[in-house]
Amino acid sequence: MPDRDAPAAHPIDPLLARRWSPRSFTAAPLPPGALESLLEAARWAASSNNLQPWHLIVARRDAEPGAFEKLVGVLSPNNQTWARNAGVLMLSVARSHNPANGNPIRHAWHDTGAAMAQMALQAAAMGLQAHQMAGFDAAAARSAFAIPEGFDPVAAIAIGEVGPPEALPEVLAQRETAPRQRRPIEEFAFLGGWKAEGR
Ligand SMILES: Cc1cc2nc3c(=O)[nH]c(=O)nc-3n(C[C@H](O)[C@H](O)[C@H](O)COP(=O)(O)O)c2cc1C
Repeated sequence: MPDRDAPAAHPIDPLLARRWSPRSFTAAPLPPGALESLLEAARWAASSNNLQPWHLIVARRDAEPGAFEKLVGVLSPNNQTWARNAGVLMLSVARSHNPANGNPIRHAWHDTGAAMAQMALQAAAMGLQAHQMAGFDAAAARSAFAIPEGFDPVAAIAIGEVGPPEALPEVLAQRETAPRQRRPIEEFAFLGGWKAEGR
């Protein structure tokens, strides 16, 4: 398996460096207890007003094959090629309004993303990996899973045991081993004020 640890420019916790988004999954079921730990990690994310707007449709490849196939079916064709080998597929869904007062939850997607980030780190901590996807048809997902109004599909997530890059079609195998890159810190963090001129 290739070493995919992030080449961090400054010290970060090894767990953060270890997380990455593979496309080669082995199709193995998750180890016992792993799904519960993933969901527990998401559960303990911070959220605005502790509203916890995230919801998850969860389909295990072996245990909920009907839902799994439905989830595969709403993915973009590119994502379908590899995500169908994940042990688990999920769809994150954000509640858009506060049930207590009807106000919009302005940070619903932010908080849902934070919960998914925690889940992805928990996956990496357990020797698994998660791959989040914007490439899916939100309207088709709403209809396939009868997601009611007031709840917005946000992202699909593939989670499982990582397979070898060679198991992927050539073009994806190349992306699987390409160097991991990020913008430098000075492009997004501005000490003392906004300094985006010229970028
Ligand atoms: C919200 C979100 C949506 C993404 N959508 C897709 C997608 O549809 N297909 C895909 O192959 N990767 C997708 N990715 C994965 C990103 O391409 C990946 O996180 C990025 O290239 C950085 O790589 P790393 O996660 O391995 O560090 C998505 C990631 C996030 C967080």
